[in-house]
Amino acid sequence: MGTAKLILDGKEHDFPTTTGSEGEVGIDIAKLRAATGAITLDEGYGNTGSCKSAITFIDGERGILRYRGYPIEQLGAARFTEIAYLLIYGHLPNAAEFEAWRDKLTRHSLLHEDMKKFFEGFPATAHPMAMLSAMVASLSTYYPDDQDLDLNIVRLLAKAKTIAAFSYKKSIGQPFMYPRNGYNYAENFLHMMFSVPAEPYEVNPVVARALNLLLILHADHEQNCSTSTVRMVGSSGANLFSSISAGISALWGPLHGGANQAVIEMLERIRDDGGGYQKFIDLAKDKESGFKLMGFGHRVYKNFDPRSLILKAAADEVLDELGIDDPLLDLAKGLERVALEDSYFVERKLYPNVDFYSGILYRAMGIPTNMFTVMFALGRLPGWIAQWKEMREEGYRINRPRQIYIGETARDWVPVERR
Ligand code: CMC
Repeated sequence: MGTAKLILDGKEHDFPTTTGSEGEVGIDIAKLRAATGAITLDEGYGNTGSCKSAITFIDGERGILRYRGYPIEQLGAARFTEIAYLLIYGHLPNAAEFEAWRDKLTRHSLLHEDMKKFFEGFPATAHPMAMLSAMVASLSTYYPDDQDLDLNIVRLLAKAKTIAAFSYKKSIGQPFMYPRNGYNYAENFLHMMFSVPAEPYEVNPVVARALNLLLILHADHEQNCSTSTVRMVGSSGANLFSSISAGISALWGPLHGGANQAVIEMLERIRDDGGGYQKFIDLAKDKESGFKLMGFGHRVYKNFDPRSLILKAAADEVLDELGIDDPLLDLAKGLERVALEDSYFVERKLYPNVDFYSGILYRAMGIPTNMFTVMFALGRLPGWIAQWKEMREEGYRINRPRQIYIGETARDWVPVERR
C-alpha cells in the first residue's frame, strides 16, 4: 500500500493507495471529505473507480480484454453458456457442472403463460428494447427476491432470450414460438425468432456459430454505463430483475449499446447519399453538426478495441460462408480506412468499437435493425448478473455521489401576485 499526498489550502493530507492485480493504482479517497471538507469532481467518472472487481480486466492502451483472466481472443471457441458460468461463478465449469448448468438454462426457458398477455398491451410499433426492459422488470412479480438467487439467475438468463424473441414476433404480428429443449442457447433463440408453425425450420449452423461469438464478445466490459447502472440500482438493495431492467434501459442509448443500430442507419444514410465518405467524416469533425461517427471512439480503448478486430474478421468469414455480398460491409471498411488516416481521428485516438461491425453480422443473420441492441443486451446479461452478484457478496454501501452546487444562494419565496 502506498500513499498519495494532497495539499489543499496549504495543508497536507495523506491518502492510502491500492494496487490491483494488474498494477492499476487507485487513490483511496474514502476519508477525503471528512479530512478536508472537499470532494472530487469527475464529470462522466473518467477517473473514478467505483468498486474493486475480479471479473473483467481491460487495458485500453494495449487493447486487452480478459474475462476472469482469459483473453477474449481465446474465448471464441467456447459456448456462450460456458462463458456466462465463468463470469458469474468465477471458474470454467467442469463437464458435470456444465451439463447441469445447460440443463437448467434449457428447462427454465418457458415464460409463465400469463406473461404472454403483457405483450398484447404493447403497440406493434413498440421498440423491442422497451419491451425487454419492461418484461425483465416484471419477472420480479413472478419470482420474488426471497427465492433462491441461483435459481433466479438461471430464470433470468433462460427467459431473456424468450422475451427477446417474443418481442420480435409481437412487432411483426407472428405467433410466439416456444423454446425447444433440443437446441443450445443460440439455436433456441434463432428458432424462436425465425420459425413459424406453418413449416419446418432448420437452424443454420453458420448463423448459430456467429451468434454464439457475438454473445461472448458482448458478455462483460467491467464498469461501463449499463453495468454501473445495474450496480447503482442494486446498491439500494433492489432485486436482481429490477436492477438489470435498469441496465437494459441504460444500454439502449445511442452512445452505448444503441450505437449498433445507429451504425447501420448511418451506413445506410451514406449509401443513399451516393457512398462518399468524406462528407460524413467532415460532418463528424464539425462539432456544430451534432453528427458523430457512430461505432467510433471509446472511453477506455485508446488504441484498438479487440472485439472490433475479431468482429471485422468474423464479418468477412460469415458473409462469405452465407454467400452474402453486403455493400454496407464495403462501406464500413472504406469509412474505417479514411477515418483512420484523418488527423482528427488519429489525434483523438478514435478507433472502431464493438458496435462498428456487429450490425453487419446481425444483418447477415437476418436480425432486423431494431433488434440489434436487444442482441447486445442478451450478450451482456451474464456480465450484469456477475457484477450485481459480486457487489452483493463483497458488501456494499448505497451508491450516492455528491455534487458541487452552482445554483442560486438562499433567497426568500415571494407570493405569486408579487412576482
Ligand atoms: N465521432 C466524432 N468525434 C468523436 C467521436 C465520434 N464517434 N467520439 C469522440 N469524438 C471526439 C469528441 O468530440 C472529443 O473531441 P474534442 O476533444 O475535440 O472535444 C474527443 O473525440 C474525445 O471524445 P469524448 O466524447 O470526450 O469521449 P468519451 O469517452 O466521453 O465518449 C463515446 C466515448 C464512445 C461515448 C464517444 O466516442 C462516442 O460518442 N462515440 C460514438 C457512439 C458509439 O459508437 N458508442 C459505442 C461505444 S462502445 C460500446 C458501448 O459502450 O456500447
